[in-house]
Amino acid sequence: MFKYQSNINIDTDEFISNQKLNKHLANQYYDKLKLVMLGGGEKAKEKHLKKGKLSVRQRIDYLLDKDAFFLELSALAANGQYKDEFPSAGIVTGIGQVNGRLVMIVANDATVKGGTYIAETIKKHLRAQEIALQNHLPCIYMVDSGGVFLPNQAQVFPDRDDFGRIFFNQSRMSAKGIPQIAIVMGSCTAGGAYVPAMSDETIIVKNQGTIFLAGPPLVKAATGEVVTAEELGGGQVHTQISGVADHLADNDEHAIHICRNIVETLPSSQWNEPAEFEEPVHATRELAGLIPEIGKPFPDVREIIARLTDGSRFHEFKKDYGDTLVTVFAQIEGKKVGILANNGILFSESALKGTHFIQLCNERGIPMLFLQNITGFMVGKDFEHKGIAKDGAKMVNALANSAVPYFTVIMGGSYGAGNYAMAGRAYDPRLLFMWPNARISVMGAKQAAQVLTSIKRDQALAHQQEIDEQQLKDIEASILKKYDEEGSPYYSTSRLWDDGIITPESTRQIAGLVLRIIDDNEPTKTKYGVFRM
Ligand code: COA
Repeated sequence: MFKYQSNINIDTDEFISNQKLNKHLANQYYDKLKLVMLGGGEKAKEKHLKKGKLSVRQRIDYLLDKDAFFLELSALAANGQYKDEFPSAGIVTGIGQVNGRLVMIVANDATVKGGTYIAETIKKHLRAQEIALQNHLPCIYMVDSGGVFLPNQAQVFPDRDDFGRIFFNQSRMSAKGIPQIAIVMGSCTAGGAYVPAMSDETIIVKNQGTIFLAGPPLVKAATGEVVTAEELGGGQVHTQISGVADHLADNDEHAIHICRNIVETLPSSQWNEPAEFEEPVHATRELAGLIPEIGKPFPDVREIIARLTDGSRFHEFKKDYGDTLVTVFAQIEGKKVGILANNGILFSESALKGTHFIQLCNERGIPMLFLQNITGFMVGKDFEHKGIAKDGAKMVNALANSAVPYFTVIMGGSYGAGNYAMAGRAYDPRLLFMWPNARISVMGAKQAAQVLTSIKRDQALAHQQEIDEQQLKDIEASILKKYDEEGSPYYSTSRLWDDGIITPESTRQIAGLVLRIIDDNEPTKTKYGVFRM
């Protein structure tokens, strides 16, 4: 593969001012992260530690191999909602290495409202399971939860993708040979009792973990029986009498150690070994100097690709055709990848090229990375007459039916149908991340405001009414404000429209890890539907 020769001068004012801006955006992101890492606050933390427990992130650190990278997912879930009383939605999820094996970790934070589940907690738990299912990752549940957050039961209990789905997923994954391991480190009540009960192997901490369908107060109310939590469903009960758990641990550290021993017994997997690879010639950290402020044009996207790929090398496909979409074969951390990256608005030619490239990746069994910075497809009479809708449809069709796995990084704008063709959330990318400068909405704020005000003008004209200019200005202002707020990556990540915010600088390492995970799959033959010609 050819090495890319960068045309970027890193000493220009523009580069330096971009660097400053992106450093500021990264710091803003790290500040938010630091806050949520505190969990439910000092008082709750003190109470938690006094019980002899480790904090949720200490538990994860202890579980992971020394110095292993942990890809935490959706750390800012629920951020800016619920008066910020649910940092990280009360649950930590992510992919890390345990005894040389990549696993999915799902760990309750009991300092956040007793580790209870609101809608975002469930969405995050289910998403972690979905990622584990698609990528054959063993699941480790570190359970310490009061179950459903009772005041919000209508948002968490009855629907398909609510609390009950957690246990459905566990059964399905176990049946597919994806190991399910639970460590009960605190409360595990009502429906929550099914997490350890449906696991392949379960550990419980003595005098600390409890598992029961109803706690002592409810038992008393229902049957009049008076019983302590420990007698009802403590560690000794479940490892010696009921058999709901398999291993009795003395404390958190001991329980985690047993869990590591269990992981040692799991069948190994081909992606345990990181491949050897070249670092990029053009350093990944230079990305910060390339990304402009919102609304300003990006540099040639090849400059970005060259800072993500091994040796800054790639093999470009159809370089001079449909050049608003750049398609290259490359390697990231020693793993083959087909990259599709926007270099402007999508035209018919770029969509056809994208379709062709997706087919090539499928035929060759190469996973795909979509780098999104897209305002949408080209609009206008000439383009509609040429059939841009059917060409965009071909790309969407090829993508939706792809058998090779793919993942997405939203590095700039993500608007309209461009979001779909470039593997937005609705197209099931294995993982989807946003950069702190990214924006996401159905269209740009200004365009949406113009559309709505022009509809109002047309309505007034049709009814021969006077146009209320002040009303139109108010509509415009309110739409601009709304889109500004809702288009933010923080709004998105709070609602789990993505799997987390990542910085440009960390993107190569994360992409390398994702490529290791998704590489574990059996090749499947792709079957497409009808392509409209
Ligand atoms: N729904 C809503 N809020 C809950 C809750 C639930 N199921 N369980 C706990 N909380 C809240 C408490 O009100 C408290 O809120 P606050 O910080 O605003 O005062 C916070 O979580 C911590 O609870 P607390 O009881 O003080 O903590 P703890 O460490 O002593 O005990 C539990 C934690 C989970 C063992 C205990 O709260 C409990 O048994 N909860 C009920 C569990 C249950 O019956 N769940 C059934 C639902 S499926």
